[in-house]
Amino acid sequence: MASSLNIQSKYKMNSGYEMPVLGYGVYQTPASIVEEVTLKAFQVGYRHVDSAKAYRNEKPCGQAIKNSGLDRSEIFFTTKIGPKTMGYEKAKEAIDGSLQEAGQEYFDLILIHAPYGGKQARTGTWRALVEAQKAGKTRSIGVSNYGVHHLDELEQYIKESGVGGSIDVGQYELHPWLPRPDIVEWLQKRNVVVQAYSPLTRGQRIEEPVLQDLAKKHNKTPGQILLRWSLQKGFVPLPKSVTPSRIEENADIFDFQLSDEDMKALHTEEYSPVTWDPTVDRS
Ligand SMILES: NC(=O)c1ccc[n+]([C@@H]2O[C@H](COP(=O)([O-])OP(=O)(O)OC[C@H]3O[C@@H](n4cnc5c(N)ncnc54)[C@H](OP(=O)(O)O)[C@@H]3O)[C@@H](O)[C@H]2O)c1
Repeated sequence: MASSLNIQSKYKMNSGYEMPVLGYGVYQTPASIVEEVTLKAFQVGYRHVDSAKAYRNEKPCGQAIKNSGLDRSEIFFTTKIGPKTMGYEKAKEAIDGSLQEAGQEYFDLILIHAPYGGKQARTGTWRALVEAQKAGKTRSIGVSNYGVHHLDELEQYIKESGVGGSIDVGQYELHPWLPRPDIVEWLQKRNVVVQAYSPLTRGQRIEEPVLQDLAKKHNKTPGQILLRWSLQKGFVPLPKSVTPSRIEENADIFDFQLSDEDMKALHTEEYSPVTWDPTVDRS
């Protein structure tokens, strides 16, 4: 229940491991400041960092973890296998490369960043992930930006190939103007934890009247309304900010609740991505 969540709350994944319900995103955060802003996030109470090989900042994320004074087991650290390293062999190398770059013995989560490259590349990458999980290189595994047709393909592969593995996490652009009901239903039916990226719409929808009204009503900011919507949908939002006051603001979302009426006011049937949308890939 979202009403009883706090910053330390966690969701249990199909792997049996747990994930903190709020993440800290570092896409487009320059490597030179990642350690400093991630340490700020840890100070505020975040325990979950979302990086990727493609963000070129796995290393300073790892340094922040090391220099945080926190036990490694208290932090949840994600990376992603990028489109350039799809396929069994390349993905295996990419996983070892990311571990080395980040100075980690394991990741908590490795995701396939996008479903690019065709079926063989996708299933080969999955096989590499399952092997990495068995070898203790990552605790949980999942996908990002997979459309329902990619998810069906993966589920069938898992069943028929003998390779196994379970989808622990699905990461997607999700906010009121891109609620993706078909994908969310597919995932939640299978207990796959749904992570919401660009949960603040990259700031593009912050001026929407409905957000301004709800912000006033709850004495919160439009960004906090968006993050609360995400939590109450059962998602794990991954807000990004390099601004200390916003890092705090985006974590201060556990002391109020949107009513059913508020959630209805935020309901749209729109399909308006603010960033890339690989879910529609047909390769
Ligand atoms: N799997 C994928 O394909 C994928 C794709 C995109 C993102 N992601 C992940 O999701 C994370 C978040 O997504 P995102 O970076 O695209 O977008 P976002 O979190 O929706 O928005 C970040 C932008 O909003 C600003 N901002 C932060 N807090 C705010 C607030 N309270 N009010 C108004 N504006 C605020 C930030 O500015 P300042 O930084 O200047 O404060 C930044 O410009 C990424 O960092 C990454 O970890 C994954």
